[in-house]
Amino acid sequence: MQTIIRKVDENCIDEMIMKEAGALLKQGALVAFPTETVYGLGANALDSEAAAKIYAAKGRPSDNPLIVHIADMDALPLITAEIPEAAKKLAAKFWPGPLTMVMKKSEVVPYGTTGGLDTVAVRMPAHPIALEMIRHGGGYIAAPSANTSGRPSPTLASHVADDMDGIVPLILDGGAVGIGIESTIVDLTDEIPTILRPGFITKEMLQEVVGEVQIDKGLDADSKTPPKAPGMKYRHYAPKAELMIVEGSSEAVVEKINALVKENEEKGICTGIIGTEETVSRYPAGIVKCMGTRNDELSISSHLYGILREFDESDAKVIYSESFEEGAMGSAIMNRLLKAAGHKIIHV
Ligand code: TXA
Ligand code: MG
Repeated sequence: MQTIIRKVDENCIDEMIMKEAGALLKQGALVAFPTETVYGLGANALDSEAAAKIYAAKGRPSDNPLIVHIADMDALPLITAEIPEAAKKLAAKFWPGPLTMVMKKSEVVPYGTTGGLDTVAVRMPAHPIALEMIRHGGGYIAAPSANTSGRPSPTLASHVADDMDGIVPLILDGGAVGIGIESTIVDLTDEIPTILRPGFITKEMLQEVVGEVQIDKGLDADSKTPPKAPGMKYRHYAPKAELMIVEGSSEAVVEKINALVKENEEKGICTGIIGTEETVSRYPAGIVKCMGTRNDELSISSHLYGILREFDESDAKVIYSESFEEGAMGSAIMNRLLKAAGHKIIHV
């Protein structure tokens, strides 16, 4: 299959390209598209054969359900059995935006989209190209991140092309995404809303709208119960090199990483470093990548996956990363980084 990549300007969306994308989606084909979090791989969510193509393209386990993307609030009743009060409040506050809500599904949503579950995850993305494409494609677009299963989520159209060239007919290139890590997922099927995946919308932000919110205990590294979001049990985003996170005061971290790099280089092991604008000049050796500045969380989150992909292209066999605990999105960033590192942490 030949993959066409079309550049789309989000401030001046080309109607012809949206019609082309919409027609493909209505025929049951796949279209990759930008959202404010990461690039998605879209298919008609109400057509299980179309959804099946997503699993095949990604090599995704079939028990891992897809998020259904909508563009208008009016679209929600058709796919849900009931809309909890909390969902209405959260939608009013955070949609369109990086929040996915799990609710009971209606019969219209095939099990092929929900991985056999009786619930459906729904999100209205805050990206003009995504919204236009969803409307042209019939209003219900199932979309996981547009990466091959196990690779970092794509934050640029070129990342999508690296994984999906020859596999999907169309990639809409809307440039770099803004947030860079996937949406917050909150489950509203129980009494107390539960965060299944941390993201840009934090627990505190949700609590301001709906009161008590809990975090799925299955997300803890040492949890005996599996995470409630089936996708969170897989080791995503694993780079080819061994990744370790070095945690401690900034001074101690820089010193430790430099010592480890020196040891590795003496053994001839090519080593990577993930630092920040505040520290990169202090790493004299190794392949040094800058995540962004600690004064701007979005600069950190938006570079994470791209840097992991860049290291896959390098000769690095081991990577040491600084830790990113602080800030509103700290837990979301660390959740992704810890998974990529297989939870390997060096405390200093
Ligand atoms: O930001 C995002 O959410 C991106 C963009 C494209 O919108 N999408 C995304 O999709 O991250 P994906 O497939 O990579 O991750 C979806 C996660 C998986 O962990 C999956 O298990 C969980 O959502 N999920 C989907 N439906 C669910 C459901 N009914 N109950 C529990 N978890 C669900
Ligand atoms: Mg994903």
